[in-house]
Amino acid sequence: MFGTGARLFHWSIALLVAVQIPAGIAMTSEPLAAWADPLFVLHKGLGAVLLVMVLCRIAWRLTHPPPPFPDYMSPAEQRVAHATHVALYGLLLVMAVSGYVRTVGDGYPIELLDAIGIPPLVRSMPEVAAVMLVVHRFTVFALVMLAAAHVAAVIQRGWIDGHPVMNRMWPPFRPKEDDAK
Ligand code: HEM
Repeated sequence: MFGTGARLFHWSIALLVAVQIPAGIAMTSEPLAAWADPLFVLHKGLGAVLLVMVLCRIAWRLTHPPPPFPDYMSPAEQRVAHATHVALYGLLLVMAVSGYVRTVGDGYPIELLDAIGIPPLVRSMPEVAAVMLVVHRFTVFALVMLAAAHVAAVIQRGWIDGHPVMNRMWPPFRPKEDDAK
């Protein structure tokens, strides 16, 4: 069973990404142009929070080894699950860093960071920002596909095969009765 720290990181980042993706699509859609400004402010602000959270989560994961995979997963399934989890961390990091560099490197503000007095952490670099825009737009496809595969695996093991997989990560606070496990 995962501890409370890993659970809180997992569900808060999942929630923020679930807001971030539709906000990103909506703010760049022509029919929703009237909403673009507030959606950009929201997306850049949440994105900056996500960047910090993803870095903290990776640090947490490196210093807090996860529980072993359950016995009902074959060695091959365990390898695929591990690779999926590593790739999800990598894609989240690429999304957050590319979004930040695309914005700040092109001279745009991040209103939330300006409001709390955090200066731009990268200098103006429009050529790199242009590459980061492409990276940001393409990486989201990989992230959505992998997240869908991750959810599908949980549904298959939990609901179809009947294994208690969900209680490894849910609820967000580790229940007291799990402390012995
Ligand atoms: C995990 C974190 C993030 C996710 C899932 C995400 C998702 C998205 C999505 C789906 C889009 C629309 C792409 C398209 O037009 O096809 C987008 C665009 C954008 N994102 Fe993010 N984003 C993240 C982090 C960030 C961060 C940290 C920033 C900046 C602080 C940021 C700034 C932007 C900007 C400026 C655009 C518009 C790009 C353009 O068309 O010029 N994003 N994002």
